[in-house]
Amino acid sequence: MLLKRYQLVPMFFVSVIFIFVSTASSQTQRGSQRVRLHVQDDQVVMDNSILRVTFTKPQGHITAIKYNGIDNLLDYTHGESNLGGYWDADWNYPGSKNAAVMDMLEGTEFKAIMETDHQVEISFKRRWDASLGHKLAYLNTDIRYIMLRGVSGLYTYSVLEHENGWPAFDIAEARLAFKLNSDRQKEMPSERDREPPRGEELAYKEAMLLVDPSEPELKGEVDDKYQYSLDNKDNKVHGWISDNPSTGFWIITPSNEFKTGGPLKQDLTSHTGPTSLSMFIGDHYVGKDIHFNLQDGEYWKKTLGPVFIYLNSNSSQNHSGSTRDLLWKDAKAQMQKEVDSWPYNFPASVEFLKSSQRGSVIGRFLIYDRYSNISGKLADVPYVGLALPGQLGSWQAECKGYQFWTRTDTNGYFTINNIIPGNYSLYAWAPGFVGDFMHNVTIPVSAGSKFDVGVLTFQPPRAGPTLWEIGVPDRSAAEFFIPDPDPKYINNLYMNVEKYRQYGLWERYTDLYPKDDLVYKVGTSDYKKDWFFAQVTRCKLSNKILPHTS
Ligand SMILES: *[C@@H]1O[C@H](CO)[C@@H](O)[C@H](O)[C@H]1NC(C)=O
Ligand SMILES: *[C@@H]1O[C@H](CO)[C@@H](O)[C@H](O)[C@H]1NC(C)=O
Ligand SMILES: *[C@@H]1O[C@H](CO)[C@@H](O)[C@H](O)[C@H]1NC(C)=O
Ligand SMILES: *[C@@H]1O[C@H](CO)[C@@H](O)[C@H](O)[C@H]1NC(C)=O
Ligand SMILES: *[C@@H]1O[C@H](CO)[C@@H](O)[C@H](O)[C@H]1NC(C)=O
Repeated sequence: MLLKRYQLVPMFFVSVIFIFVSTASSQTQRGSQRVRLHVQDDQVVMDNSILRVTFTKPQGHITAIKYNGIDNLLDYTHGESNLGGYWDADWNYPGSKNAAVMDMLEGTEFKAIMETDHQVEISFKRRWDASLGHKLAYLNTDIRYIMLRGVSGLYTYSVLEHENGWPAFDIAEARLAFKLNSDRQKEMPSERDREPPRGEELAYKEAMLLVDPSEPELKGEVDDKYQYSLDNKDNKVHGWISDNPSTGFWIITPSNEFKTGGPLKQDLTSHTGPTSLSMFIGDHYVGKDIHFNLQDGEYWKKTLGPVFIYLNSNSSQNHSGSTRDLLWKDAKAQMQKEVDSWPYNFPASVEFLKSSQRGSVIGRFLIYDRYSNISGKLADVPYVGLALPGQLGSWQAECKGYQFWTRTDTNGYFTINNIIPGNYSLYAWAPGFVGDFMHNVTIPVSAGSKFDVGVLTFQPPRAGPTLWEIGVPDRSAAEFFIPDPDPKYINNLYMNVEKYRQYGLWERYTDLYPKDDLVYKVGTSDYKKDWFFAQVTRCKLSNKILPHTS
């Protein structure tokens, strides 16, 4: 298979506000084959004649996905590191002398939850108890998979629970991963290409320079999984394409209510392997402020997902590469269908709340800044969201509850639908204005409730008129000067978009300004050219790393 990695270019969807009510199962096609479940001693197979998925029993590991004439889209070998498809959590406990360990969240109990012609839903459950000690993360888990009639894919979600009275522990990351099968890869390097001497390690082990890849066109490129990160708000569909036979493997995330850290939190999407990921909990790019930890005795339960694993294919072979575009366009259209039917009405677990079990919040968010002329219309409209009660800006590091975000219209009106019942704080911020907003009232949401917060007025903090300003206060540094990468460390994906994702740009500061730090002259300097986009260290001639003082 030839594989190429695709992701949604962030610009696409940032300004779209999705407010939808779930629609009846419009996905099901008439006349298609019914869904079947075959339960054997040590494996379970789900099949709807479009795809067939095999799981270990009772663990719930996906060992094979048969689709489009390919026996197995996944790379799985029993007992080896080719792990197929699985959920896992990287965890630790206070006082541990060891590094975090991976818990594969394997089930000990298999159950067919629903088995009709239209829907099969299965569950792989396990219970933790103190006798297990440190063998497993202190979690009860229920991992679900759903196959629907006529639908080219598989839904999955999980319910994780830490009971009252259980000991403290922490999770560095919790995710869903798929190791895809590949004989040959073209656009993306292969795992082998990363191994020395074919690959050469750069500043950290995840970043490899491809010095002798199997595809010569990749020679000299950098491969680094951190380059394929996306903001939660933009991470709606990403995946891989195989050219022969033409097949797409996509992870569609119809809502990010269950992700941590709000709309701007970034996380990984895929990496060389090829591997496709859905990250549910993770420290990436924030560090210990967002580290998930539960105290002794703390009760916690959360439903992660569902996400949709979508498969597509198109037999119109086209060597010019346009088949890939067809698959990508079709995946985006499918993503929109999934978003439109959120929250899904078909998952069987009572832990996944349906539309009628959720509430909504409406209101108007205005900005009052006596030193700037806001005529009432804002082009780059504010973000308004609900997260667990906290302090100004605390949503950015919030990792235990759900978050529900939207953007206002140009007059400041907003509606947040499909909120899971609970008590929340309402947070907001507006591109172009410094500061964070938090409403001073805790907002109760219950099933079917519609809470009107009224008119909220945000006064951005300021002591007087603006004398001068560098850049735009929009929580992105993309408007500043971003250097070209060192020609030795290029990733061709980011030559024209999101250049800031290139490898090693921090070293370019020393290259470009070897002697002195930048000085910004108010009135003459231009932040687009004269101000570096990140505060980095500088490496002087002695190889001593110094703080960047400007
Ligand atoms: C394949 O792509 C063609 C366009 O070239 C389109 O007309 C057709 O509907 C697609 N087939 C499938 C099965 O999506
Ligand atoms: C194949 O690609 C060419 C060039 O992009 C395009 O003109 C043509 O329509 C494509 N054919 C199909 C069947 O998609
Ligand atoms: C606001 O607009 C008025 C009229 O256009 C102008 O006189 C005034 O200087 C502006 N104030 C600021 C702070 O831009
Ligand atoms: C919200 O908080 C109130 C007051 O503390 C409490 O009575 C209520 O149970 C809470 N509601 C939910 C859904 O947690
Ligand atoms: C919240 O703030 C508003 C003004 O924005 C004020 O009128 C109200 O009394 C405050 N409520 C509480 C509970 O502090």
